[in-house]
Amino acid sequence: MCVKNAGYSRYFCILVIMKVQIISLFPEVFKPLFSSSMLEKASRNNLVSFEYINLRDFGLGPRKSVDDTPYGGGDGMVLMVEPLTLAIEKARDNDPNAIVILPTPRGRQYKQSEAIELARSKGLIIVCAHYEGYDERVTDYVDRQYSIGNYVLTGGEIPAMTIVDSVVRLIPGVLGGPESAANESFQDDDQTIEHPHYTRPEEFRGQKVPEVLLTGHHQNIRNWREDNKRK
Ligand code: ADE
Repeated sequence: MCVKNAGYSRYFCILVIMKVQIISLFPEVFKPLFSSSMLEKASRNNLVSFEYINLRDFGLGPRKSVDDTPYGGGDGMVLMVEPLTLAIEKARDNDPNAIVILPTPRGRQYKQSEAIELARSKGLIIVCAHYEGYDERVTDYVDRQYSIGNYVLTGGEIPAMTIVDSVVRLIPGVLGGPESAANESFQDDDQTIEHPHYTRPEEFRGQKVPEVLLTGHHQNIRNWREDNKRK
């Protein structure tokens, strides 16, 4: 991102660690999430930038149509290949090395290992499909297809938010300390879930914080945490 410095004829370029472009018919649904909490802080600190491409801008004809009835008949409408492809090409023009992701129930299961790998990339383009589905030919323009679970949502926006949130929190500097993301659950995908956490008060309605956590004995605390992982 480059900005012109007021009073000077120079441009100053700020290096953003990761550029996330979202292609959607409903870009406004992302803003409340991406402009609060950790994601807002990450973008304020130039660790990530969010850009939205409205699929409607690539619609065809005077009505800017993006969908049509399915060949072979059946219920619902299908997103047409041309608007989707034009939107992806526009995003790729902005960031030629970005990874293009299509959330879809037909994709492979999205896991923490994928989030870790995507967090190393400098750019993501996420294509949110809708209606009954999308013309399969668009998958030629996509690098990854992910399902976030064995259920069907009305569109790709919630899966896109899930993917973005899981990736951005892994960018160095987004979470608290260097240990925050390193010790957490699912490092080995579905195997290990992190130990439980406690904070003040020491006792709540008769429920006490495990004694060992109050001792300050680091080795015993480490052992307790190890023993209390869910495997
Ligand atoms: N779109 C609709 N349902 C989905 C799912 N389960 N995963 C990814 N994308 C989707």
